[in-house]
Amino acid sequence: MAAPIPFNRPHRTGREATYVAEALASDHWRGDGPFTRRAAALLAARLGDLPVLLTTSCTHALELAALLLDVGPGDEVIVPAFTFVSTASAFALRGARVVFADVDAATLNLDPAAAAAKLTPRTKAVACVHYAGVACDLDALGGLGVPLIEDNAHGLFGRWRDRPLGTFGALATQSFHDTKNLGCGEGGALVLGDRGLVERAEILREKGTNRARFFRGQVDKYTWVDVGSSFLPADLLAAVLAAQLEDADAIQAARHAVWARYHAELAPWAARHGVQQPHLPAGAAHPAHIYWLRVRDLATRTRLLAHLAERGVGATFHYQPLHLSEVGVRAGGKPGDCPVTEQAADTLVRLPLYADLTGADVDRVIAAVAGFTP
Ligand SMILES: Cc1ncc(COP(=O)(O)O)c(C=O)c1O
Repeated sequence: MAAPIPFNRPHRTGREATYVAEALASDHWRGDGPFTRRAAALLAARLGDLPVLLTTSCTHALELAALLLDVGPGDEVIVPAFTFVSTASAFALRGARVVFADVDAATLNLDPAAAAAKLTPRTKAVACVHYAGVACDLDALGGLGVPLIEDNAHGLFGRWRDRPLGTFGALATQSFHDTKNLGCGEGGALVLGDRGLVERAEILREKGTNRARFFRGQVDKYTWVDVGSSFLPADLLAAVLAAQLEDADAIQAARHAVWARYHAELAPWAARHGVQQPHLPAGAAHPAHIYWLRVRDLATRTRLLAHLAERGVGATFHYQPLHLSEVGVRAGGKPGDCPVTEQAADTLVRLPLYADLTGADVDRVIAAVAGFTP
């Protein structure tokens, strides 16, 4: 059999090693050095020139967002039930109650009506995820009357009405984990849509000190001024990220080519068998982050994954409902609370999608899927 096709592979631009060697040769291995500034500037240029702070992960960027909004005991934060743990745990860590709302059946994004139904006087913020990088209904979510945090882990380079995702919320977070379109191993960023939060964000990210102001010559010594932690990545990792950001257009073009082939060439099979393909609302431009299919039920999904594995295709499922996780159940979550999430968790399959998939690999994935009878 031909070599297995993994679900994901990080792309090498060829310059990561050079930049890391440059960073190693310098005496600036720690955070906030030349490569951090380069990567942050490249990222900001993609995000409407909003202020951007690199972090050690998207999870840490979410935790920084929770600190910045003073989320604490007695507060509630509304999050989609269909998301990665960090979208919720960042707020639970601050002692807030996480309130799960269901997602929209077409996009798997936070359903604005479901979120609105969970609003109370204690609601401190709403966190949304642009699932697969397809925009949420940002008009509706932005109009809920509480700060919106975009967990934009999937959505870098996605757009809503021609404006980049990650620029709509008071705060937005990015991920540069291996599995994302661009990566540096582990990494992230906080994007500050609310520029009034920038100065405090710099302090909280730097152990609660005003070190950033000191380095800019705005104070003559730095000291402990607020709560905080260490959220800044080493410049060695920012060197990898800078290389990736410089090649973002090529990486995106390669990913889009794969996504477009799956979408077009699997359409007849999907239509014949009632399999759902991704839905793109008008105004949403996606970043080719995930290609998903949804089959009838869990038994069919289990058979499809086994069929693909036998043919060396590394397809996989995605999130399990957070309200039914151990923590979610302890907080009172029950089956039936978020039916769309529960259905998607059982029926969704993600196909391999990365910049280095060859045309022959894509042929193989498509043939393997189309050879399955749901
Ligand atoms: C929606 C979402 N939010 C947050 C994260 C966490 O990202 P990181 O691994 O950079 O902390 C992920 C990770 O896959 C994710 O999918």
